[in-house]
Amino acid sequence: MMMRRECCLCLLLTNALVFIILYMYIQPGTNLPAFHEDSTNFYFKMKKIQNGVDGSEKTENYPGRCEDDLELLILVPSSLWNFRHREAIRKTWGNKDSSDAETRLLFFTGTSLSNETFQQMFKDEQGQFQDIVKVNITESYDNLTKKSIALLKWAHLNCPGVRYVLKSDDDMFINIQNLVNVLRKTKPKNAILGVKNSHSVPFRDKGSKWYVSREQYPKDKYPIYISGTAYVITGDIITSLYNSTLYVPSLFIEDVYLNGICRERIGAEAIHLSGFDPARNRGKINGRFFEKRITGHHFSPRDIILMWDELQTVLKSPRSVNNN
Ligand SMILES: *[C@@H]1O[C@H](CO)[C@@H](O)[C@H](O)[C@H]1NC(C)=O
Ligand SMILES: *[C@@H]1O[C@H](CO)[C@@H](O)[C@H](O)[C@H]1NC(C)=O
Ligand SMILES: *[C@@H]1O[C@H](CO)[C@@H](O)[C@H](O)[C@H]1NC(C)=O
Ligand SMILES: *[C@@H]1O[C@H](CO)[C@@H](O)[C@H](O)[C@H]1NC(C)=O
Repeated sequence: MMMRRECCLCLLLTNALVFIILYMYIQPGTNLPAFHEDSTNFYFKMKKIQNGVDGSEKTENYPGRCEDDLELLILVPSSLWNFRHREAIRKTWGNKDSSDAETRLLFFTGTSLSNETFQQMFKDEQGQFQDIVKVNITESYDNLTKKSIALLKWAHLNCPGVRYVLKSDDDMFINIQNLVNVLRKTKPKNAILGVKNSHSVPFRDKGSKWYVSREQYPKDKYPIYISGTAYVITGDIITSLYNSTLYVPSLFIEDVYLNGICRERIGAEAIHLSGFDPARNRGKINGRFFEKRITGHHFSPRDIILMWDELQTVLKSPRSVNNN
């Protein structure tokens, strides 16, 4: 009996030792030569690289520069053909009147609209609202990073004094007043804010939509990043964040690239904002839900308008006034 127990213990210890030695050998990343000193060096090129796109079409309806006192610049990537999404956002949460802050709303579309009817509709829309920047890229999931770089570049060139930039997808619902209130209270600097992701790993399965090879990204874990559906960049880092995209090889996963790798590169913070919701409202369309919250996503243009009307009713009700 005694003998067997000692044997067991011995075996266990040996196992543990072998395990530790093995672990030291196969520690993630150590087999990649470019990578064992300073992990961030791998992504950082001393020379400029071509990540973005040149030639945003400067049509006659190209939006002009920002006013100096702009508090919140709202930038929304939108597919060319999402006319109704843009219309809904203009009429609801993206409207200047949706908060007491000085805000400005702009959309960023790609190219590639073949149908002539649509072309004309788009031209009319550009002319009427003058709030669309057309970027010279094909609309596709793989080009989202390029669109976001273009958007950042636009802010860098045209809105140098802006306090905050909100990037939002065009299927989001956002309570801008709540967002502005939080920013005024916390006064964040040198940061990207939204839904924080801390433990994401690259998909190495070639069949996956998010497949990333070791050449594209060698580490086994992504840096902490803020989800791409909606996030806030503080105005003080717009230029340095854009500048970093000229040196850090791009990854098609927009939020990991910009809000993870590039953010880390410039030493900006990733801050979680409660009230930013990564999940849809459990399938229910409910404007009241946003009385206290800030964002929610996966909404159709019709949902957005319905919810906006609901929210206005709630905000105007006596109960709500008493709460304030
Ligand atoms: C748009 O990009 C294409 C290459 O992708 C290039 O050939 C073309 O000149 C660009 N257009 C403008 C207006 O810069
Ligand atoms: C453009 O596309 C729309 C929607 O698919 C269609 O109704 C319309 O007939 C098309 N117009 C032309 C000129 O092809
Ligand atoms: C991305 O846009 C470029 C033009 O800038 C185009 O050449 C390329 O085909 C697009 N990529 C995809 C996957 O559509
Ligand atoms: C852009 O980044 C490069 C590389 O880190 C740096 O040398 C340069 O000073 C930066 N420029 C600006 C305007 O931040």
